Amino acid sequence: MQELRIGDLTVQLPIIQGGMGVAVSLSGLASAVANAGGIGVISAAGIGMVEPDYIKNSHESNKRALRNQIRKARSLTNGILGVNIMMAMTDHEALIKLALEEKIDLIIMGAGLPMNIPALVAESGTDSHHTKLAVKVSSAKAARLIFMYWANKYNCIPDAVVVEGPLAGGHLGFKKEDLGSDPVPLDVLIRETVLTIKPYEEQFAKEVPVIAAGGIYTGYDIYDIMQAGAKGVKLGTRFVTTHECDASLAYKESFINCKKEDITIIDSPVGLPGRAIYNEFIRNIRLGKTKPFKCSWHCLSSCDFKKAPYCIAQALYNSVKGKMDEGFAFSGTNGYRAKKLQHVADVMKELVWEYGMQKAAASLSAVRLTVPV
Ligand SMILES: Cc1cc2nc3c(=O)[nH]c(=O)nc-3n(C[C@H](O)[C@H](O)[C@H](O)COP(=O)(O)O)c2cc1C
Repeated sequence: MQELRIGDLTVQLPIIQGGMGVAVSLSGLASAVANAGGIGVISAAGIGMVEPDYIKNSHESNKRALRNQIRKARSLTNGILGVNIMMAMTDHEALIKLALEEKIDLIIMGAGLPMNIPALVAESGTDSHHTKLAVKVSSAKAARLIFMYWANKYNCIPDAVVVEGPLAGGHLGFKKEDLGSDPVPLDVLIRETVLTIKPYEEQFAKEVPVIAAGGIYTGYDIYDIMQAGAKGVKLGTRFVTTHECDASLAYKESFINCKKEDITIIDSPVGLPGRAIYNEFIRNIRLGKTKPFKCSWHCLSSCDFKKAPYCIAQALYNSVKGKMDEGFAFSGTNGYRAKKLQHVADVMKELVWEYGMQKAAASLSAVRLTVPV
């Protein structure tokens, strides 16, 4: 596999671990992926829930928890670390500033358009050149909007673009009707995005790698999507069933025990569809059995918490702590494929080996096509 370059940052393997909330990817998983040569990513979503005073001091506990997890991950690896911050989080600006202060290597921003981020970076007064800024989109159109806006208003462009297709786990940037039997293929989204950002790369004399995410599970998948122009990949589901993943064993076992048909689309209270593993909790919500709750601070700006049938942050955190009946797990379409827990280092070795096999198979078939028989 070719290394991944994001500006002056060189990553040994072009594999980014997707940030997974709430508390699925913290310092444990992120440092293990970084130690294995990829980019390990801490998810900031609801991260303060790991602190005892979250309900009373939500903003402070979110900041404290993110800082603690970044520092803990740093103490466990010399590798490359990132954080995933959703624009839909009401305190996303404070968390981005904190990540910049901590000199994180990469910030991935999605779930909303990160329009004013260059201004925020300038305002933060930190060494903005160290931290690379990646935007996560679900279409070339969204990438164009961000690039055009940053270029015109701030005279800069993002350092990387993550294109997350319709097969991913978690909240999805697609309409529910577009997630049916014939969703847009990821390679089409990648090709469109590569073409869309090309003029901006030329204007700013800067290479901006396009990273593919959503439904990528093996090294064969990685090789294939790179033929469409991706320079790297971001995998979430594949890393859940690892020993190093920060979720409980019950949470990981819900992946190992689930079947293909258990993976379903839910209507999340934040107003987006999400992909998750069907269980009793989801069944009850669909039957109208709501879980009334008090919202202490409106953590997600798009959450209609007065009408929401349950608190999604709490439901996700309950399941991560092993209370599977009081919540559910997000999962990509491949969530049923793991048969056992693995170490992150072994997953990475497997991905590299499969990539090599696929590459060899592709060059053999090219020889066969060119050699007359
Ligand atoms: C359990 C789980 C939790 C996730 N949580 C978040 C999150 O908090 N924020 C976010 O932007 N993406 C989240 N994602 C999306 C991942 O970062 C990643 O882009 C996605 O999982 C890639 O698709 P894959 O799971 O098919 O590999 C989550 C995905 C999963 C499976």
